[in-house]
Amino acid sequence: MYMKIFPLHELLHVLAWLEGTWITDEPAVGTYPTIKPFNYFDEINITSIGQPLFNYIAQSWHPETGMPMHRETGFLQILPDTKKIALSLINNIGMFTVEQGDLTDDNNTIIDLKSTNILTTDASIPHFATVTETRRVFTRNGDNLEFIFYMATSKTPELTEHLRAKYRKVT
Ligand code: HEM
Repeated sequence: MYMKIFPLHELLHVLAWLEGTWITDEPAVGTYPTIKPFNYFDEINITSIGQPLFNYIAQSWHPETGMPMHRETGFLQILPDTKKIALSLINNIGMFTVEQGDLTDDNNTIIDLKSTNILTTDASIPHFATVTETRRVFTRNGDNLEFIFYMATSKTPELTEHLRAKYRKVT
């Protein structure tokens, strides 16, 4: 028997708007004090199969060459009977992060998460400074999703913007 896909779990109803595919129409912007600014395109896929969590994949690519860039994948969960969110991710630069936070507004359109755990593998990129803290904020604006990602590193101890992107929901 094949696996069945079940309807969206009731725990996720409050975030039903998030399920789908989100893409950047305009190049997103990457910055950081220690690197050259850059642009990228990105696609986020958020899917459910009926379990009490969303599956999360974000794949970015170079805007001129199409070369795959950052990729991260994991799960987004809502803690039962709360508006608390946990996003557990592994990325292709050798980092695992757990980011937790809240749906911060009454309409459940702002997701504001801060890292609570960061792990690296021996395969993480050696010339990158070590990430010590992250914050990501998703803000829904109709069929658009605004995203800002901040990080602090061993060389830049204050949370500082690294990514800024605007997505449009395509499915
Ligand atoms: C969301 C999680 C991400 C984390 C934790 C992260 C982390 C980092 C770190 C630690 C650095 C090195 C900074 C330094 O050495 O001072 C870096 C650089 C960079 N990141 Fe990210 N990044 C993320 C997402 C992305 C995304 C989505 C892109 C888009 C393609 C991207 C593109 C870059 C580029 C191009 C550099 C510069 C690389 C170089 O100069 O060698 N990052 N990132």
